[in-house]
Amino acid sequence: MVTINKNPLGTLPIWQKKVYCTVQLQQLKLTQYKNYYIDHFTFEERVVGISGLNGVGKTNLLDAIHYLCFTKSYFTNSDNSNVQTGQQGFRLEGLFDKDGEAFKIACIFRGQNKKEIRCNDLEYEKFSQHIGLFPCVMIAPDDVELIIGGSESRRRWLDTLISQLDAHYLQQLIVYNKILQQRNSLLKQFTETRRVDNSLLDVLDAQLAPAGQAIFEERRVFLQALLPVIQQHYLDISGTEEYLQLQYDSQLLTQPFAEGLHQSRSRDLAAARTNVGIHKDDVVFLMQNEPFKQFASQGQRKSLLFALKLAEFDVLREHKGFSPILLLDDVFEKLDASRMGHLLEQVCAYTDAQLFITDTHKDRLQEALNELDVMHQIISL
Ligand SMILES: Nc1ncnc2c1ncn2[C@@H]1O[C@H](COP(=O)(O)OP(=O)(O)O)[C@@H](O)[C@H]1O
Ligand SMILES: [Mg+2]
Repeated sequence: MVTINKNPLGTLPIWQKKVYCTVQLQQLKLTQYKNYYIDHFTFEERVVGISGLNGVGKTNLLDAIHYLCFTKSYFTNSDNSNVQTGQQGFRLEGLFDKDGEAFKIACIFRGQNKKEIRCNDLEYEKFSQHIGLFPCVMIAPDDVELIIGGSESRRRWLDTLISQLDAHYLQQLIVYNKILQQRNSLLKQFTETRRVDNSLLDVLDAQLAPAGQAIFEERRVFLQALLPVIQQHYLDISGTEEYLQLQYDSQLLTQPFAEGLHQSRSRDLAAARTNVGIHKDDVVFLMQNEPFKQFASQGQRKSLLFALKLAEFDVLREHKGFSPILLLDDVFEKLDASRMGHLLEQVCAYTDAQLFITDTHKDRLQEALNELDVMHQIISL
């Protein structure tokens, strides 16, 4: 058991504090996954640096770890693109230690949507059963999209986070997305055939409304607790007094979802898609009442991105009772030395998190890890 010297952010109100245990990925075997034909890695230390030239497979290695935690790649939903060119499928195996207990996780993709996830040789009935068992947080170079991109990336971030904390939320989300898809194809069909069957829409709305309402309620409560944590991290990372406002933006704030759905039906029929719902939600960042993404400098964007990720890390840790695995891809390229130092200190000095960090420059990586004064290993690819 590792003693936590300092929890920099205190306890968040809605999550119960648990006794802390440790989680560590000890071994990883990749077969026909992206550029890895057959490779085996052993991780002996809590902090693992991965160095190598561009294109050697650093990001792919982190992505394989992400895959074992989430049953999917961080970068793509298409399993076919993870298969090594010219091969038929891939296999990933990870040996995790959770407070002394061993877990062998295997993800096997055989092509043509045939996929299995196993925990200690037992196949899951649903992949969702695995979500939340080994939480991890990835920070990758293109993540700034989360700040400046469309609302979809922020919804995905939020959903990924809450789903790891609450299996019920994930179930509601699966139901919502399925019914929404059915509703949209029905609307499209009605437009094409110029015939409307309102009773069919009633049936779908009766399923969509409670799922959407439940997701909304949970997002609202969750964000209320999360936003101050993000704000605090932002102040710490940026080293400024800049006051950041974050707001949950949802059509459901002004009207119950069932009512909104009913009201927008004629508009939905005209547009052949569903215009109201939690699939339109957003998290809005403001600074001095101006939209952050429009005027924030690159430095401010990066600070906010890291604040979001660190808040994610904190919440998972607080809720789960152990630190998520942290995957930092090429962050040296993106952060100045003081932001970088702050980030590493937050996760390495104050927590027992396992950290994987990549860099093209072995010396720079070695130096940063030496400064941290924690046991580490460097793998050169
Ligand atoms: N499905 C695939 N099959 C074979 N090679 C792949 C596949 N997907 C990506 N790669 C290769 O992986 C390499 C990039 O790996 P990456 O992890 O991004 O490198 P790094 O992060 O070290 O710069 C590229 O050479 C690319 O061609
Ligand atoms: Mg890379």
